Amino acid sequence: MKLIDDVIVVHGLTKRFGEFVAVNNLDMNIKSGSIHGFLGPNGSGKTTAIRMMCGLMDASEGDIHVLGLSMPEHASQVRDQVGYMTQKFALYEDLTIKENLRFIAKVRGIPAALAKERLNAVMIDNDLVEYQSQLAGSLSGGQKRRLAFSAAVLTEPRLLILDEPTSEVDPNTRREMWAKFFKLASVGTSILISTHLMDEAERCHYLTVLNDGIKVADGKTDQLKNEFSHQVVLVEGENVTPLTDSIMQMKQVLAVAQSGLVLRVIVSKEEADPVRIVSENIGPKFSVRKIKATIEDVFVAATQTTKCRLDKE
Ligand SMILES: Nc1ncnc2c1ncn2[C@@H]1O[C@H](COP(=O)(O)OP(=O)(O)OP(=O)(O)O)[C@@H](O)[C@H]1O
Ligand SMILES: [Mg+2]
Repeated sequence: MKLIDDVIVVHGLTKRFGEFVAVNNLDMNIKSGSIHGFLGPNGSGKTTAIRMMCGLMDASEGDIHVLGLSMPEHASQVRDQVGYMTQKFALYEDLTIKENLRFIAKVRGIPAALAKERLNAVMIDNDLVEYQSQLAGSLSGGQKRRLAFSAAVLTEPRLLILDEPTSEVDPNTRREMWAKFFKLASVGTSILISTHLMDEAERCHYLTVLNDGIKVADGKTDQLKNEFSHQVVLVEGENVTPLTDSIMQMKQVLAVAQSGLVLRVIVSKEEADPVRIVSENIGPKFSVRKIKATIEDVFVAATQTTKCRLDKE
């Protein structure tokens, strides 16, 4: 097996639908053995880019190499080595869990004895044994995601491309799925994962953020946080909620989010003293201090074009 540093290399990737540019001149590298998060608001082009990487859609422009092979020329060779979990459920609703997995094993050419072994292993691993005879169409949202993930890993691929694998999955199952992702990465599997969940983004080794099809942030997760150019302040005190609107109206403020009993405020990098200007706006009853940026701050600052109020808990 050829060893390569970057399992996906994308250069100048563009997809147009008529006049509309869904993916715009994207450069992206996915390092071998890493978990690489793909972030962006709804409609920012993540699924479209992924579909081109998997050879399921032609690019309008640009080059794609997956596992060292140029796409879409080597699409069938690449597909044999890639596990792709689609955003929408794409398995047979009128087959049972076991029948779906058996079908995939057959199509992917896994020998019968090995297929039986792997089928049992993935069903145990993904808590599907007790539902194995249930039609896929009648499964809950989370069970469907677990089946789709089982199908993606059945061939033990070198590269996993997971498009929002944990949407509809409960928090405990999500943690278990992430434990699996880390385990797979530790034995050399590379994972590209799209997600809207910021706690998941924090767990990735690398991140790429799209906005309107354009890459707006890219790099090591820690580095993106440490090198965040804007400033984040925390506002604490009794009943901070009514402060939100007046803070949002400040010209130096990019975004405000309430998190539990406190407000997180992103202040423009141009402002020399963010703590002072926020304090002056809200009065002495509240405390304001500067804090470190999270990936959510990086995401919000990179993707919002107008000021936004993030409604959290
Ligand atoms: N076949 C198509 N024809 C026309 N427009 C399309 C087509 N496929 C996608 N688009 C448009 O391209 C844009 C990007 O869509 P895409 O599904 O890639 O976004 P996404 O980042 O995956 O969003 P989400 O987070 O909601 O899954 C959207 O505006 C979508 O409507
Ligand atoms: Mg999508």
